[in-house]
Amino acid sequence: MPKLTLHPSGQVLEINENLNVLDRLREEEIYVRSSCGGTGSCSDCMIKVLSGDDNLSDPPFEEIQLLGNVFHLTKERLACQLKISGDVTIDISHHNIGTDQERREKKNKEFIKSKIKVKKKSQVDAEHVEREKEREERMKEREEWKGHWKKEDDPMNPKRLGGGKRPKLFKSVEQEELEKKDDDSEK
Ligand code: FES
Repeated sequence: MPKLTLHPSGQVLEINENLNVLDRLREEEIYVRSSCGGTGSCSDCMIKVLSGDDNLSDPPFEEIQLLGNVFHLTKERLACQLKISGDVTIDISHHNIGTDQERREKKNKEFIKSKIKVKKKSQVDAEHVEREKEREERMKEREEWKGHWKKEDDPMNPKRLGGGKRPKLFKSVEQEELEKKDDDSEK
């Protein structure tokens, strides 16, 4: 069975040719960063190949999309996409659970800080006074509106509902002609 040597610990693992490097390391509870769960979409599980280039599986499309086709220069591969058919040494020194946790906690703290806005007591008090004023004004308006028709009820000047205009009397054509004649005679 092919042997996988880990740098810097020097630990040697036997690995089945059908198993990818990330899964093998997980079996041994060796930490390698990963946020996509091994689907080849985050590039967090990147490792560096120190020796055994000829024993590596070809990078699949997802890996080439993330890392490009420059393995001969960078020697970087995705552990979740890499299988080996012979002895290989890889460097996993930058996968450090302690630093990763620290970084995550720092990020969380910054996120929480950016979301929570702490108000000063004076600010809160001022807002409270303002809100109370608005509430009182609303209540006052409501009281004024209640029975507003009664307040306008002046016995000396009663409110006339319905316009207060008398309807015009209906005049027949004859009547109109008579009135016209009367007017003419007065002139
Ligand atoms: S674990 Fe995300 S790319 Fe490998």
